Parts: sequence; C-alpha cells; structure tokens
Amino acid sequence: MKKTGISNGKIILIGEHSVVYGEPAIAIPFLATAIETVIETTTGPVILDCFFYKGPLSQAPKRLLNLATVIKETVKTLAKPLENFTITISSTIPAERGMGSSAAVAVATIRALFRYFDEPLSNTVLLELTNISETIAHGNPSGLDAAMTSSNSPLYYVKGQEFEFFPLNMTAYLVVADTGITGQTKEAVEHIAQLYQSAPKQTGYLIKQLGQLAKKTKLAIEKNQAITLGTNMTQAHKLLSSLGVSNRELDCLVDTALDSGALGAKLTGGGRGGCMIALAKNETAAKRLATDLLEAGAQHTWLYNMRKDGYDD
Ligand code: PMV
Repeated sequence: MKKTGISNGKIILIGEHSVVYGEPAIAIPFLATAIETVIETTTGPVILDCFFYKGPLSQAPKRLLNLATVIKETVKTLAKPLENFTITISSTIPAERGMGSSAAVAVATIRALFRYFDEPLSNTVLLELTNISETIAHGNPSGLDAAMTSSNSPLYYVKGQEFEFFPLNMTAYLVVADTGITGQTKEAVEHIAQLYQSAPKQTGYLIKQLGQLAKKTKLAIEKNQAITLGTNMTQAHKLLSSLGVSNRELDCLVDTALDSGALGAKLTGGGRGGCMIALAKNETAAKRLATDLLEAGAQHTWLYNMRKDGYDD
C-alpha cells in the first residue's frame, strides 16, 4: 500500500514576530512550492527518507528531531504500531527560508499517516500535531505557519482566535526573492523574547506598531490600495530591523527593490536570512524587479499575482 500527503509553502505579508505576541498577521499560502510525503508498506522498522537522511527513524539525526517526534506522536494518536512502513519526503520549499518548510513537512507527513491508516483527520488535530513539531523547531510558535501550510486561502490571523480567511483581490504583484542564506527563525524568535525581557517598553512598542500596520494593511487590501500596502510593508521591514531580525543580505535586497521602483519591500518569515518580498504595481514591473533582485544576489525569485490569489501559470 502507498498513500500520499501534501502541503504548501507560505508567505507572511505582514505581522511576523508580532504575531507571536498576539498581534494580527496576514499570510498567504505559497502554492508555487510544496512538500509531498509518501508512505509505503515495507517490513521491519520505520525508514525515513528525506532531505539529507535515509535510514531508520530511530536513528534520525538531531536536526530532524521535530519531524521524528511528530511522526511518533501521530502514530501514537492513531494507536497504530510504529513499524512496517517507509516515509519518503520530497520538497520544493527551500528549507529554512521563512517559507514555513518545517510546518509544511509536518503537515504533509501527518496527512500521509492518517491516509495510510485510513483514519479521518480533523483540522484541529492536524494543527495540534503540527504545533508539536513547531514547538521543537521554534520554541514558541504562533501557529500561523501550521495554519497556512495546510490551507489554500490567505488568512488574517490572530493567535488563539478563529481563522478569518481573507481573499486577496488586488491589482498588484508580489515578487518573492530568496537571499540564498539560511534563515534563523528559532534564534530570531528567542532574540525578541530576550529583548522583551531586557527592554520591555521599547520592544512592546515596536511589536504594537507592527500589529497596527497589520490592521491598516487589512483595510488597504480590502480597498485595493497597493500604494498603502507597499508603504506598510517597508515600514514593517524597518520595525523588524529595529527588533534585530533582518540582516545585511535582506536589507540589500529590500533597498534594491525600492530603488528599482517597488511600492514596498520587507523580509518575510523569521528573518536573519531567508526570503524577502517586494510589491510591484503590475506584471511588467514585477518582472523587472525580479531581474534586478537576481542581479543584486537573490538566488531565486517567484512572482505572485494578487488579483488571482496565485500565479499566472
Ligand atoms: O521562518 P518561518 O517560515 O518559520 O516563519 C516564522 C514566523 C514567526 O512569526 C517569526 C514565528 C511564528 O511562529 O509565527
């Protein structure tokens, strides 16, 4: 027997980090990138075949602790034996680039395991199990990555509140650019937690400002105000920089995007590496931006049409 589970990448339009502290965020499922987990019947111990490791699940390297734990927890939830199958994972989500790859691996694998054992999977159980993995990966996840990598609809997200799916219908394009440098979400989340302790007033102020921007951005999107959205994105990048979660490469791509006519630009995801996003008024401007970002050192770019909630082709 062979069963498959899938998930997708995600892009945070606005509100990363502040979302951990209860402020709103807006995120988009990034269907240009995906993860597929295939579970196949074999005999003997569970074999894991993914990324840089192929071998018994019990001997998986520490870097895969979040995945190994979620596999064990899922099988425990299903009350099934942890043997006689092989788990193969393939991914087009660049790892550790702020696109939610750690949550997406968990989502695809939990889905595959529930299908393999022919059990129904509720969204609540999927998110609970994914957050076990995310807690190991990040320490204090907001739950946004788990929600987005398992969904097809953009979301206005507030931790602990009911999901508010939020269709985008704007005349604008996002250009996503990968710095090619591994992001450090765990370190960045921990850094802000420490800042909160050492400078609570100032840190709280910056977090609140990010939350205000997310609220204003929701209104701007509803009114198709691309210029306001762009301004808010750039402002969010400055606040995230002040919180210490940007880096030289991200700042360089943000500056390049603004110099080449972007309506706004910011890092996306955990930061300190990973990806940035830039807003372009139309497809021609987006293509030009992508070329300029590649010339400035981006390793890869993707275009996202905000009118269609996705991609031209
Ligand atoms: O770097 P990513 O894709 O894991 O995104 C992290 C987003 C944060 O807001 C920084 C953390 C969180 O749990 O929401």
